[in-house]
Amino acid sequence: MLEKLNHIAIVVTDLQAATSLYRDVFGADVSAVVDLPEHGVSTAFVNLPNTKVELLHPLSDDSPIAGFLSRNADGAIHHVCFEVQDIEDACEKLLKQGMRILGDGRPKIGAHGKPVIFLHPKDVYGTLIELEQA
Ligand code: CO
Repeated sequence: MLEKLNHIAIVVTDLQAATSLYRDVFGADVSAVVDLPEHGVSTAFVNLPNTKVELLHPLSDDSPIAGFLSRNADGAIHHVCFEVQDIEDACEKLLKQGMRILGDGRPKIGAHGKPVIFLHPKDVYGTLIELEQA
């Protein structure tokens, strides 16, 4: 089911400072900052040869990652995203195995305009896993 590592997401305290670190200090290719109101986050992607780093910051206090940032005041790795060929098929198989999909259990359009789901971290040894349609 799992294919490429699409990205690793890191919640940061200051998105402009973090993009500047990756661009100006590390010399990486960093995308523009994009606000995703339906996910409650601002995001920028660091494009690496083999994967991406997604830099995340809450858009507002009721953002799903606001609580994460208050528990991890310096920022921290938030989730890992793997690609799957067929997200509907993956959902069906995972639900049959008793895995929990966050939210309403249906794919939502993610940061790349492709359908994504998130698996309950307690079902994946404590790591929040995002699956994205390849
Ligand atoms: Co992500």
